[in-house]
Amino acid sequence: MDYLGNVLVRSDMNVPISNSIVLDDYRIKKAAEIIPLIKDKSKSVTFISHLGRPESYTEELSLKNIVSSLSKYISTKINFVNDIDAEKISKTLLSANEFNIYLLENLRFYEGEENNDSSFAIKLASSFDTYIFDAFGSAHRNHSSVVKIGSYLNSYQGPLVDREIFELKRITDTEGEPLTLILGGAKISDKLHLIIKLLPKVDTLLIGGAMCFTFFKAMGINIGSSLYEEDMIVECKKIIQDKNFKKIKLPLDIGVIKSIESNNRTDVSYEEICDNNIGIDIGNRTVELFSEYINKAKIIFWNGPMGIFEKKNFNTGTRDITRLVQNTEAHTIIGGGDTVSAIRKFGDIDLFNYVSTGGGASLEYLEGRELPGINKYPSLII
Ligand code: 3PG
Repeated sequence: MDYLGNVLVRSDMNVPISNSIVLDDYRIKKAAEIIPLIKDKSKSVTFISHLGRPESYTEELSLKNIVSSLSKYISTKINFVNDIDAEKISKTLLSANEFNIYLLENLRFYEGEENNDSSFAIKLASSFDTYIFDAFGSAHRNHSSVVKIGSYLNSYQGPLVDREIFELKRITDTEGEPLTLILGGAKISDKLHLIIKLLPKVDTLLIGGAMCFTFFKAMGINIGSSLYEEDMIVECKKIIQDKNFKKIKLPLDIGVIKSIESNNRTDVSYEEICDNNIGIDIGNRTVELFSEYINKAKIIFWNGPMGIFEKKNFNTGTRDITRLVQNTEAHTIIGGGDTVSAIRKFGDIDLFNYVSTGGGASLEYLEGRELPGINKYPSLII
């Protein structure tokens, strides 16, 4: 690897945060992994990232809130720069006479970022020699820090992005190996294109979470007051009529409550959901059914929890699927922030083969879309 000089690393440290406390630091941990790989070849490393979707500056979404989490994974002190001001950054970098790590303020506090503004990119690039795009989670965004800054510097695709693509290709390029997809979460609209694209390829698609209710509704099954998406009914009907629909396994039983305030769960067959029922989880018979396919698979991709796993009485489906997936012999790939939180809560994250840092980006990649941030630059050869 050539000498890199002052390096600007676009990472994705967009983590869940509440009252300025980081709730899950997985993306930060993965972003930090680049430091030991480039430290000896760099004069300094400066991280840039977005956090949340701010309209303007808010304390809650300042990246200073993640400094202590990042410090857990990097032994060098992290210097937080509270303003993306090119002159200030240049002076700071010039005055340093030892290796330093910097973290700049949330990119989305600056209009130029989401407007994909060239002058914002030029100004930001002006203090650096090298740009590394290592923010797989943001690769689907046409934003200045993703698609513009690299044009003005000696630029590379980072190792985290390379690894993500390598893992996701196992799913898109698999030939003949039994592939099981497990999809959950609230909205079918987020995963519709993925289902359409991968259904011909998979052996089995297991569906849990509130997504299943839109399918049930489209099949004319009473879902009571469960969450569903009216505008997805037509799309679901098309999938139901497709010859590959037999590969989709919907829940056999559902955990239901009578009001949203209630904690009192009962499990009923999917055909016995009553008008006043709200579905909140998959039931035991469904877990048993899903376990057959999980145990037969050679590759598993899981995105989306099976129910409202944040609540104690509603989490058994997500908990049991976590344990089944982590204990299979299959190569397991996990995607999506909620699923990562769930496996951290109920399982051991190290027992999964790969946990993606991408939410929307991994779904779009699997849908076969071209992501603007991917394959723009050569890989950093380490
Ligand atoms: C994500 O969390 O999926 C990425 O960080 C992108 O965030 P965004 O959806 O706010 O652009």
